[in-house]
Amino acid sequence: MSDRVMWFDGACVPWEDARVHVWDELALRGANVFEGITAFWDAGQGCHQVLAGDAHLDRLFDSARLADIPAPMTRAEVRGALGTVAARLSGVDVYLRPTFYARYGRSSLAPDSAGAMYIGGFPFRPTTPPAVRAIVSGHRRFGGPIGAQAKSGGSYLDFRLFERERIEHGVEHVLFLNDRGHVAEADGAAVLLVRDGSVTTPSVDSGVLDSITKRIVLDLARRLGYRVDERPVPRDELYQARVVLAGTLLGLRSVDSVDGKTGGDDAAAATVCALADGYARLCRGEHPLAPDYLAPLR
Ligand SMILES: Cc1ncc(COP(=O)(O)O)c(C=O)c1O
Repeated sequence: MSDRVMWFDGACVPWEDARVHVWDELALRGANVFEGITAFWDAGQGCHQVLAGDAHLDRLFDSARLADIPAPMTRAEVRGALGTVAARLSGVDVYLRPTFYARYGRSSLAPDSAGAMYIGGFPFRPTTPPAVRAIVSGHRRFGGPIGAQAKSGGSYLDFRLFERERIEHGVEHVLFLNDRGHVAEADGAAVLLVRDGSVTTPSVDSGVLDSITKRIVLDLARRLGYRVDERPVPRDELYQARVVLAGTLLGLRSVDSVDGKTGGDDAAAATVCALADGYARLCRGEHPLAPDYLAPLR
């Protein structure tokens, strides 16, 4: 694919030239943390507008601290490198995936400890499947000492099992429960439940990544006058509400059925439409909340 851009060791390089050694901590123990960031092309300004860039950089550095991976660069340097990648993809919306990884050292206290960064970037062209069916996974997700708050490569190993279930069941998404049997999150997205004029989402103590897209959607919901509730969510509520997934890559995606059951009434469906419309306008800079979330990436 020629429109993929790779930043590696200080500069953009041909995609196939970004190589690490099999004995690097990245490969040996999966020592990496990363972010998925979108930036939307602004033809008027002639640059990309990054969505919630500060929140993503905060989370990248927080993840590195939680997973004890030495941050290889300053925040300003990471931002500069993101701008370099985006500039190679001018004229289109982009998805940027900065990754910090440990090259050497089993912890950052090791004398030879060294971190590094790469960023993959490519055009962002979200697709919407004609039907969105989800199942609840038969596996539960248990957080280790690093926990779900770190967006770490290691924690995504579980997702191989969820992806297998997804394919075996012929559905678009898998939702999973935490060790207490409460709703946690989905494959690459936060879970939101829309019902009776309220938007409910599992609280962060449910063992979920604190989704940045979810935070934006909750902001939109409050502005539209909906009640917002973050709390432990029992599984049964998935069948009584309209379920919506929120994530950087997915945007906002309404789920038609969970385990074959459709919850939520016409009012819930209308709320989902209003939120999706608000989110789309915000990404384009056409919503009153847009200045809170968009910033030029140069
Ligand atoms: C497990 C998981 N939960 C939630 C999300 C959504 O997070 P965000 O909205 O910050 O992209 C993602 C997306 O990467 C994810 O992988």
